[in-house]
Amino acid sequence: MERYKQEIHGQLLDGPSELTDPERNLLRLAREAMDRAYAPYSGFRVGAALRMADGAIVTGNNQENAAFPSGLCAERIAFFAAGSAYPGVAITDLAIVASSENFSVEHPVAPCGACRQVMLEYELNQDLAIRMIFSGDKGRIIRMEGAHHLLPLFFHEVSLRR
Ligand code: THU
Repeated sequence: MERYKQEIHGQLLDGPSELTDPERNLLRLAREAMDRAYAPYSGFRVGAALRMADGAIVTGNNQENAAFPSGLCAERIAFFAAGSAYPGVAITDLAIVASSENFSVEHPVAPCGACRQVMLEYELNQDLAIRMIFSGDKGRIIRMEGAHHLLPLFFHEVSLRR
């Protein structure tokens, strides 16, 4: 039997002062989007901001629903909006931020598994890694150099081909 092992790599930054100016700007736009989230049930607001290769910015925030599973995460809303408005334009950067009505989010908030799967398909299609930063209200920030780092063992559409 062969041992199977994959590693993920990222960077842990002490705070926003270690970000580049474009990253700080994208994070600010993600925070503005987060403030517009519709999260009356969880009280947990998430904002996502994407920078497109042509400079356009697309944002998303979580949208909840009384029928809980009908809601959607900020990240998927942003990615689907980008795919819908700018088909064929690569996504170069993503910033995610989250905040709770009930506690202070002092760690970087990374995307859920379903969002990782969606992000990865866009990344594979465009053949360009999406740089990502994850933040909370305060504290450390994670930087990753592509969605493939988040989901090393993923479901790939070739599995659907006959
Ligand atoms: N949420 C996101 O928007 N992104 C994630 O990656 C995880 C969770 C939202 C969904 C729900 O509205 C709230 O956060 C609590 O789970």
